[in-house]
Amino acid sequence: MSNPSILILPGDGIGPEVMAQVTRIIDWFGEKRDLKFDVETDLVGGAAYDKHGVPLADETMARAMEVDAVLLGAVGGPKYDDLDFSVKPERGLLRLRKEMDLFSNLRPAQCFDALADFSSLKKDIVSGLDIMIVRELTSGVYFGEPRGIHKEGNERVGINTQRYTESEIARVARSAFELARKRGNKVCSMEKANVMESGILWRDVVQEIHDAEYPDVELSHMYADNGAMQLVRAPKQFDVIVTDNLFGDVLSDCAAMLTGSLGMLPSASLGLPNADGRPKALYEPVHGSAPDITGQGKANPIACILSFAMALRYSFDQGAEATRLEKAVEKVLADGARTADLMGPEGGTPVSTTQMGDVILEALDASL
Ligand code: NAI
Ligand code: MG
Repeated sequence: MSNPSILILPGDGIGPEVMAQVTRIIDWFGEKRDLKFDVETDLVGGAAYDKHGVPLADETMARAMEVDAVLLGAVGGPKYDDLDFSVKPERGLLRLRKEMDLFSNLRPAQCFDALADFSSLKKDIVSGLDIMIVRELTSGVYFGEPRGIHKEGNERVGINTQRYTESEIARVARSAFELARKRGNKVCSMEKANVMESGILWRDVVQEIHDAEYPDVELSHMYADNGAMQLVRAPKQFDVIVTDNLFGDVLSDCAAMLTGSLGMLPSASLGLPNADGRPKALYEPVHGSAPDITGQGKANPIACILSFAMALRYSFDQGAEATRLEKAVEKVLADGARTADLMGPEGGTPVSTTQMGDVILEALDASL
């Protein structure tokens, strides 16, 4: 059998800098854990535009559809700000999301004890936090028709439509239940069934999928506004939260900030299963290309590294190895390694992007 395949798209700005550390870690798993991947690297975003005149070449798109997982750094930068909208770097990423039909967006909020002081919440509320928000990404109010701004009498009216089909709800619900089985086996579904018909359908379909296919997973329902309150009051009550595109956008950003810096936040977007049962998958840090620090060795590679840990767990069924990598990150943070973005007011000497990679590799070695 051939090795699982990964397409690496480093992209622009700090993308290649943080991805270089991920590549070292992938190599480590090949050498030390006999976990070998067929890795290929290609261009996306401004880097692809510079070479091909488009932010994602057709051949790259075709490979993305075939591999087991895509790892993306970041796209964009001031150099490309004046490009026509149709070839902007971001369009490369949008094309990937659209053609791979990545309807399930996973945003973990995980608190590393050593960074708990960075949280805007009290340490004991976030310490040990490990939750996952699953956001529906390809439908809902951002896409529903009718939409637009028109004139009614002498004033303007703005319209967007929340629209969900049963199958759109069912597939993201399945995605959440599958994840829950690989984690704490608990799903909380959030909507506003008290005031929205689409919310009633959401609640009903999630419950039906649960009863028919995932009765072993603990399911609860919560109104999304209460969910927002609970997230800042007692976030540890949750394991997996599944919600629609709009609520998920807001709630995932809110949950992310429970745990601190942008340089620490991974994400995944999953589509329908391939023939071998693995969902199409794109893993990427939440941050952008950070032009203000590009080329200075200041970028924190941890968001990208933790995105690869998610790939290990959710695309390659290597939960134990994912945990090994997360523990290595936890250990170097506990030992005091800090990139510049993680320096508190007390100061100190930051490590570089490569040095952060070095110590994480050392911690991996020590884990054997
Ligand atoms: P950004 O996330 O690139 O940077 C925001 C701030 O956070 C900057 O001060 C940056 O230095 C810092 N930062 C981000 N990642 C960091 C890391 N790993 N380590 C240390 N510090 C980090 O967002 P911004 O500045 O709004 O956008 C810059 C460019 O990135 C734009 O062209 C934007 O379109 C693009 N972008 C791309 C995204 C993607 O590829 N998914 C997402 C967001 C923005
Ligand atoms: Mg947002």
